[in-house]
Amino acid sequence: MKIVEASAPATIANLGPGFDIVGLAIENYRDIVRIELTDDRLITLEIVNNTSVAVASKPEENSAVISALKVMEFAEIRSGFKMKLVKNVPIGIGLGSSGASAAAAAYAMNILLGDKFPMEVLVRSAGEGEKVACGSPHLDNVAPSLYGGFTMILDVNKPEIFNIKPSIDFSIVLVTPQVKLPNNKTEYARSLLPKKIDLETMVKQTSSLTRLITGIMKEDLKMIGEAISSDYVVEPARSIMIPRFYEVKETALKAGALGFSISGAGPSVFALTYPEDAEDIRREIVMKFKQYGVETVGIIAKPTPIGARIERTY
Ligand code: HSE
Repeated sequence: MKIVEASAPATIANLGPGFDIVGLAIENYRDIVRIELTDDRLITLEIVNNTSVAVASKPEENSAVISALKVMEFAEIRSGFKMKLVKNVPIGIGLGSSGASAAAAAYAMNILLGDKFPMEVLVRSAGEGEKVACGSPHLDNVAPSLYGGFTMILDVNKPEIFNIKPSIDFSIVLVTPQVKLPNNKTEYARSLLPKKIDLETMVKQTSSLTRLITGIMKEDLKMIGEAISSDYVVEPARSIMIPRFYEVKETALKAGALGFSISGAGPSVFALTYPEDAEDIRREIVMKFKQYGVETVGIIAKPTPIGARIERTY
C-alpha cells in the first residue's frame, strides 16, 4: 500500500469545566488527508480548502504535515511524502479544525507505515501538529477527533486517554457569532485565562468537572448539561470575546437547553439539547444575538462515535 486517505471529525473541546481535558467528536464536518510516500526526502502539501478562511500552506506550519512527520519520527523512518489536505472543518471558530487535520494525518501515516502504533502515540503526534498551529499542545481536540465520542485525558504527559461512545441521542446547537478576533485566536483566547486560581475556585471547578465526568459515565444528559454550564475559570475569562454572552446563555437555558458554554477556544457557543428541542433553541440563540446587532451562523450538530478512519487505500 503506497497511498492512504483518512478522515477525522470536528470536535468540541472543554465542554465547560473540562478545559484541555474533555472533548467530543461531532459528525458534521470531517477533514480528509491523503498521503503518498515517495522515494525522495521531499515533503509537498496540496490543499483543497472548502472553508472561508486561509489554511497554513507552508508544510512546516501545517498541523497535518507536522503530525505525519512526528509519526515517522516515532517509527524512526525518514522518507518524503506528498500530502493532500481537504479542509472541511471551519477554521478559527472553536471546532478543533487544526486538530482534525492533525488527527487524520497521524492516522493515515500510521496505516502507511504498517499500523505500528496504538492510538495514544497518534494523539501525541497530532498534539505536536496542534502545537504548531495553535501554540500549545493541548490534546482535547485531537483525542476525540482520533477516537470519536467523548474523550478524557487522564494523563497529559503520557498521554493516557479514556474514551466513551455515547449510546444516548442528543444534539448540540452550535452558534458562531461573527466577531473579529486576533489572527492566532487560540493563543489569544488562552492569553485571557488567569495564571493562578484560588483554592475555593479550584474546588468549585473540580466539582463541576466531576459532575461532567459522572454525567458522561451515567449517560445522564441533565447532569452533563448542568456541568457544562458551570465553568468557574475559563468561561468567565473568555466571555469577553463573545458579545452579550451571559444574556444569550440565559436565553438558551430558559428555552430548554440542558447546558451552554463556549466551544473550544470560541468564539462559537454551544448548547446541549434534547434532539426535539434543538431547532427552537437554535432559533432563540440566533435571535438573541441578533437583538444585540450580532450576526451569527447557527447549526445543529450531532455527536459521532466515529473518530479517524480510512477512507481509501491505493
Ligand atoms: N482546550 C483548548 C482551549 C482547545 O480551550 O484553549 C482549543 O481548541
